Amino acid sequence: MVHNRLLALTMMLGLTLLGRAQAQTKQLVIKPGERWLDNHGEVINAHGGGLLFSKGTYYWFGEKRGKTASEGVNVYSSKDLSHWKNEGLALSQSTDPSSDITVGCLMERPKVIYNPKTKQYVMWFHLELAGKGYDAARAGVAVSEKPTGPYRFLSSFRPNGNMSRDMTLFVDEDGSAYHMYSSQDNYDLRVVKLTDDYLGATTQDSLLFSAHREAPAIFKRNNRYYLITSGCTGWAPNAASVHEASSIYGPWKLVGDPMQGPAAKTTFGGQSTYVQPIHGKPDAFLFMADRWNPQDLKDSRYLWLPISFENDRPVIRWADQWELNVSSKGR
Ligand code: GAL
Repeated sequence: MVHNRLLALTMMLGLTLLGRAQAQTKQLVIKPGERWLDNHGEVINAHGGGLLFSKGTYYWFGEKRGKTASEGVNVYSSKDLSHWKNEGLALSQSTDPSSDITVGCLMERPKVIYNPKTKQYVMWFHLELAGKGYDAARAGVAVSEKPTGPYRFLSSFRPNGNMSRDMTLFVDEDGSAYHMYSSQDNYDLRVVKLTDDYLGATTQDSLLFSAHREAPAIFKRNNRYYLITSGCTGWAPNAASVHEASSIYGPWKLVGDPMQGPAAKTTFGGQSTYVQPIHGKPDAFLFMADRWNPQDLKDSRYLWLPISFENDRPVIRWADQWELNVSSKGR
């Protein structure tokens, strides 16, 4: 049964084993919800994160957490999405009490994109100022010449004056980049186009829908945009939904809950954070979620699952384990 499921998932992702060593292939088993270790045998600490594929390597950026504290943004690297090298802190908090990112601030849901014009890696994240709870509701921007950093903090702001909490970044095929964010106390989901250097927000800022959703994770397939979100229940899990549109500005149509399997109604106990297209596999997308542990945030677990399509509708099925083989050739 488990074997059959593994086989089906393997085929779904169009995996090519290409005569790779059996031993290596066996290691590329993803076990959602288990403890994932880095190259030093330490538990991976990269929550609410996202991936960036650059020059044959995947970089995983995520919140470094203590028991509850926010401790900056960690980065890990991998050629195969399975073996992760700890590259350390990509963005540190500041010891300068006048900085927006002084120790005690909250840095959440970091995402990084590459700007080929400026040759810079640009990080956006949800920033809350130290000692102010979740009142600041700002986006923070940092930049680096190398994917692993260290990133230099540039600024934090509310895009066009709008509150900005849970967020993600998306680069479209024409090179335009967008920041999607929960606004107006999370009732609104908005999108704002970034400036050409990706370091700021333009005034092309629009409401996508007002449905009290957060944790946005967007991807594009066959010229259609799909946006997975969660409800707003803090660290507690709830039902996911997916919206679909043919333009990033909408109209966005609700197409339902893509999760299937045990605990599907609570996103398997998790909350969306990102969708990564698998390099070199046109129809393969990796769904990433966090199973938060508010008593010990650093021990929150990662739920990574493949997305399949039924009548062009995304479906995400629970699997205790599944096999992934990726080609890291190319850029
Ligand atoms: C969630 C949000 C997380 C974090 C948490 C704090 O709603 O998605 O990123 O901000 O609230 O309670």
